[in-house]
Amino acid sequence: MRKAGAQIKLGAFLTATGQHIAAWRHPDVKADAGIDLQEYIRVVKIAERGKFDMMFLADNAGIWDRELESDGRSSRAAYFEPITLLSALAAVTERIGLVATATATFNEPYNVARKYASLDHLSGGRAGWNLVTSANEAEAYNFGFDVHLAHADRYARAREFAEIVIGLWDSWEDDALILDKEGGRFFDPQKLHMLNHKGERFTVRGPLNVPRTPQGRPIIVQAGSSEAGMDLAAWCADVVFTAQPALSDGIAFYKELKERVRKVGRSPDDLKIMPGLSPVVGRTREEAQAKFQELQDLIDPVVGLGLLSSMAGHDLSGYPVDGPFPDLPDNNTGKGRLKVLKDTAARENMTIRQLYTRIAGTRGHNLVIGTAKEIADQMEEWFTSEAADGFNIMPQALPGSLSDFVDLVIPELQRRGLFRREYEGSTLREHLGLSWPHTRHALARDGRNAKPDAAE
Ligand SMILES: Cc1cc2nc3c(=O)[nH]c(=O)nc-3n(C[C@H](O)[C@H](O)[C@H](O)COP(=O)(O)O)c2cc1C
Repeated sequence: MRKAGAQIKLGAFLTATGQHIAAWRHPDVKADAGIDLQEYIRVVKIAERGKFDMMFLADNAGIWDRELESDGRSSRAAYFEPITLLSALAAVTERIGLVATATATFNEPYNVARKYASLDHLSGGRAGWNLVTSANEAEAYNFGFDVHLAHADRYARAREFAEIVIGLWDSWEDDALILDKEGGRFFDPQKLHMLNHKGERFTVRGPLNVPRTPQGRPIIVQAGSSEAGMDLAAWCADVVFTAQPALSDGIAFYKELKERVRKVGRSPDDLKIMPGLSPVVGRTREEAQAKFQELQDLIDPVVGLGLLSSMAGHDLSGYPVDGPFPDLPDNNTGKGRLKVLKDTAARENMTIRQLYTRIAGTRGHNLVIGTAKEIADQMEEWFTSEAADGFNIMPQALPGSLSDFVDLVIPELQRRGLFRREYEGSTLREHLGLSWPHTRHALARDGRNAKPDAAE
């Protein structure tokens, strides 16, 4: 049961031209929005007007093979590196949280800890790190590998990586900076700590050269739904993004993950579960359906099949496109996503073409086409049934689908008391209702047990 007055958390998943693979071809969309700062500024300001908790940028450290093999038809080959972009957006926004993806597979933890701590300072406490393990095999080719690292290795590395990042964010205690000009003491050496991490994959001495950040530590987001993904999230994430196409799946995932959070000794409220939601909103259901169809009619079959192949982790070009979606074996990319595809296809007995047409706008996330009331009804149902603490909203085409949501759905949620009318706090941690993360050093000194995420 939800507590009285509990409210939904909202992320805006902003992908260049929009989530729909054909969005860039829509007449109202700027085709090269992925490399246009002014467009991003326009869009993030719409999200901030809507009082979103955060905006979210996905990322891959390389172009997917499907983009390369699309005969130049895919728009997803060109976009900004997200931390650089969010640093620019920090200067033109005030309250909205800024979450960027960085992979633990092809980075060094010191660099990641430093960049996100810097972004947290630059933005006044609004930074978040979406910790992923890289589903895109082609990233490996940019970092000295011929083949991708195995799924289990990527998660083992991610765990050690996150331990180091969190440890480095705890380098400086809250009051370590003294700034005493007269006495000549810049910082208190007792309150700046070495990490001295020596593990299976990394050796990092520390400390970090960025002091304690405005929200203590940047927020950690995790978006893997496999067993290993859920365990990593239970241990360290503040927010989980996930693709849950149906309410029953959402309830089962929510229950399972919150149980894992409890098992590691954290409070289930410390982790917010936010499934993706792809809303197409109209003043009538027919208008919404027409908007969606306009995008669907622009899908290029080459791009659609390429997207499905890479999400499934199998080349589907050898299968009859109007035949059933095959029963594919597990593979080394995203295990969570293949399951969603299989379940969706099985539920509706779909062909390959039907499935790629279905995911072209949603990538396996929940698609809702309707009026503001219908969309709000569904959000309320997911929230009250404990399938979601909030949603990662995935606008189909930018900026139009986002402004539709902000102008039509958000006021409906506000009327129901389900969403804030104004920002109350100034940091992302405050928006999410998460508590202050004491450093392991402060906890040890006060004789309190370090939380699991602060364990040495
Ligand atoms: C909403 C959402 C956003 C994601 N964004 C990224 C991303 O930007 N880059 C990436 O490599 N993986 C991304 N992923 C994939 C996962 O984080 C994860 O690395 C992948 O699904 C494999 O994990 P799994 O097998 O545990 O599901 C995203 C997943 C979801 C649900």
